Amino acid sequence: MNTLLEDAQAAGASVGLTADRITLQGGKPLVGRIELKGAKNLVTKAMVAALLGETPSELRSVPEISDVRVVKGLLEVHGVKVSSVGDDTLLLDPSNVESAHFEVIDAYAGSSRIPILFCGPLLHRLGEAFIPDLGGCRIGDRPIDFHLDGLRRFGAVVDKQPQGIRLTAPNGLKGAKIELPYPSVGATEQVLLTAVRAEGTTELRNAAVEPEIMDLINILQKMGAIISVDTDRVIRIEGVERLEGYKHTALFDRNEAASWAAAALATNGDIFVGGARQSEMLTFLNVYRKVGGAFEIQDDGIRFFHPGGKLKPVIIETDVHPGFMTDWQQPLVVALTKAEGVSIVHETVYEQRFGFTDALVDMGAQIQLHRECLGGAECRFGQRNFNHSAVIVGPTELHGADVVVPDLRGGFSHLIAALSAEGTSTVSNVGIIARGYENFIEKLRALGADFVLEA
Ligand code: EPZ
Repeated sequence: MNTLLEDAQAAGASVGLTADRITLQGGKPLVGRIELKGAKNLVTKAMVAALLGETPSELRSVPEISDVRVVKGLLEVHGVKVSSVGDDTLLLDPSNVESAHFEVIDAYAGSSRIPILFCGPLLHRLGEAFIPDLGGCRIGDRPIDFHLDGLRRFGAVVDKQPQGIRLTAPNGLKGAKIELPYPSVGATEQVLLTAVRAEGTTELRNAAVEPEIMDLINILQKMGAIISVDTDRVIRIEGVERLEGYKHTALFDRNEAASWAAAALATNGDIFVGGARQSEMLTFLNVYRKVGGAFEIQDDGIRFFHPGGKLKPVIIETDVHPGFMTDWQQPLVVALTKAEGVSIVHETVYEQRFGFTDALVDMGAQIQLHRECLGGAECRFGQRNFNHSAVIVGPTELHGADVVVPDLRGGFSHLIAALSAEGTSTVSNVGIIARGYENFIEKLRALGADFVLEA
């Protein structure tokens, strides 16, 4: 397993970011316009789905981020031809899918969790698949038991080996009844990518219904799949023998949109986020308004700004869609350090997603972490030894400090904190941020941020 620094450098280098550190001058509002591309958490899965087609696929609005580079590499080692058209379209040709040696897969998997989603498509195309040790943000244990249980239900044989997990399907894959213990995004995608070409019908209960899931279903249906989404998290898939390539423009990245919105609020700024849409961000917009942020919905995006006046404390409980998304809490917490009063964030999706607050406390924030389920209902992590609730006492003036990026969203929150603090800060391991934020350096420059990059 790579160190965080190695992950950061590899991620940064893959998209041309040679600097490891950024030194920022705080106190200047971020003002201007940025444009979004497709969602990291959809685009990477859409690229995997292309493996299921007998003919090439065309994916548009693909962001230049390192997670996309990782998946491109993994597809190529499995014989998929991946070429770029213009600056944000990928052509994916799976005509000659072939198996790859586990060491090669391991080398390409790097810091990503996506390799696990190759299982269904490769079992259909090759009758075998290999999962290396998975990476991804260090925000919890992140087991894959739901994935493996689901694959076994389809008839896959799971063989745990020292270098990873090898899967085969000696009798092919057959539709199954599966109920997820928790509406996991990844496990839902696993079932979808496997069931669409399995023999017979699959019924998935307690499924995730995030907008990224719905957009993946749009893509699979374009390929020829038969998928119905009923109410109360039930998805039914009737397997088909053959799928074709798709043409699709990826859903916008609502996590990046929420991150820049939080940056506008914490820096007393005004940012127009081109490509952002209201319907996938309803819950975020409600909380943003309650805190005291303002927004204007326009046809080509959303304007987020600080309308002046005092920010108000809130109680946030993260949850699966349509609840408040876990990836939104880290950037927004910086703004909550400036609110007049006590805010509570109860993180119910990941058990260890408050590591980023250490740096904010070093910068002068008043944040205490608790094991109890504060501000909401008892969650899976209650009564267990996880600091998964945060109490934020404001208002506090942040001051500059040297901080190290712990994970993707934590890293973005550190940029926001440094830009809204008094004085100078240095943020290291910035390559991690390139895993999910396209051209964030150029965007900061366009919004008037004051900083220098250091190798
Ligand atoms: C996806 O992760 C996203 N990543 C995450 O975004 C996002 O936070 C998460 O969904 C929730 O919305 C990608 O799409 C690449 P889960 P995923 O399976 O699929 C537990 C970001 O910052 N679980 O819904 O890995 C798990 O431990 C990233 O962009 C099991 O216990 O999330 C967690 O507590 C971070 N066993 C919970 O379910 C399993 O087999 C939710 O995980 C699978 C999951």
